[in-house]
Amino acid sequence: MYVVRDQMHDQIITIERHIVEQERRYPQATGVFSNLLYDIALAAKIIAYETTRAGLVEILGLAGRINVQGEQQMKLDLFANETMIRMNSYTGRLAVMASEEEEDIIPVPEEYGIGKYVLVFDPLDGSSNVDVNVSIGTIFGVYRRKSKQGPGTLEDCLQMGRDLVAAGYIIYGSSTMMVYSTGQGVHGFTLDPGVGEFLLSHPDIRMPERSKYYSVNQGYEQYWSEGVRRFTWWLQGMDREDPRKPLSGRYSGSLVADFHRNLLEGGIYYYPAEATKPEGKLRLVYEAIPLAFIVEQAGGYASDGQRNILDIQPKSLHQRIPLFIGNLELVKKAEEFISEYDGQ
Ligand code: AHG
Ligand code: MN
Ligand code: MN
Repeated sequence: MYVVRDQMHDQIITIERHIVEQERRYPQATGVFSNLLYDIALAAKIIAYETTRAGLVEILGLAGRINVQGEQQMKLDLFANETMIRMNSYTGRLAVMASEEEEDIIPVPEEYGIGKYVLVFDPLDGSSNVDVNVSIGTIFGVYRRKSKQGPGTLEDCLQMGRDLVAAGYIIYGSSTMMVYSTGQGVHGFTLDPGVGEFLLSHPDIRMPERSKYYSVNQGYEQYWSEGVRRFTWWLQGMDREDPRKPLSGRYSGSLVADFHRNLLEGGIYYYPAEATKPEGKLRLVYEAIPLAFIVEQAGGYASDGQRNILDIQPKSLHQRIPLFIGNLELVKKAEEFISEYDGQ
């Protein structure tokens, strides 16, 4: 009996253990970075706890505030935003933060010490889905600060995806999962609500070679470019010169959920430039870059239609960008169609 239990415990890998084991590969590591990842995991547990009770407590509904993007903000957005800030302000591990829900960079209080890392996040992605009980998420990216001393700066938050030291997301779905990468593959952990721990459930995630799904808001097709329209027909197997087995369509309105499905099952998510939104909709810093890092680590690719998202230098905190992300072959095909038909 004792032996059986021992074996069982040996197979359970908590997120803490996983982070520590990855850190051991770097003899010069101080542990600060590992602790920062735990801080994020803890914030995620608190947000998960609230999101699963969203239908029960008063926080459901609009907060009556408009966020910096000019969109209506749900109360759960505020809660998630405040939780991420609160859990990371006083640790001494960060120099500065930036959130999709805050207009400016978020300084950390100096009395607790200024750290060397920078945290950017979308605290609650897909928040229009809160009221209808569809999966939502949190997206984050971690950089090393570039500024030398004192409080972190805007430039610290405007780094290229190539410079990320870690990125990940949490999906609050039928179960809560945290998926992250420090540049050594992509690993997924499922929250065991009983013990309150994230346990390794999806080690070393690789995008499947064969894709099943495409995810796009086809309601806006009339605003798309010729290239994007033709690319979509190709995905649907309607390209006469190059017919293929059509992919199934899946679109939830939560980037995290659609991305996660495609990561595990194979496919592509895109939010192209539209006549009414020439910049696209999604945010480069909080959404496109962190997920581009993850997808590349899983063997996929992310592009704005022409360039690798990881090579784009952000110019402003809330910059938007067209996004094509998922299976390498499919994203490359999108770039081909755009260059052929949209003259780019
Ligand atoms: P957020 O809730 O953080 O503002 O992000 C919403 C994003 C993304 O999650 C989703 O894929 C997309 O907006 C949906 O937009 P449409 O409703 O225009 O399709
Ligand atoms: Mn979002
Ligand atoms: Mn958001």
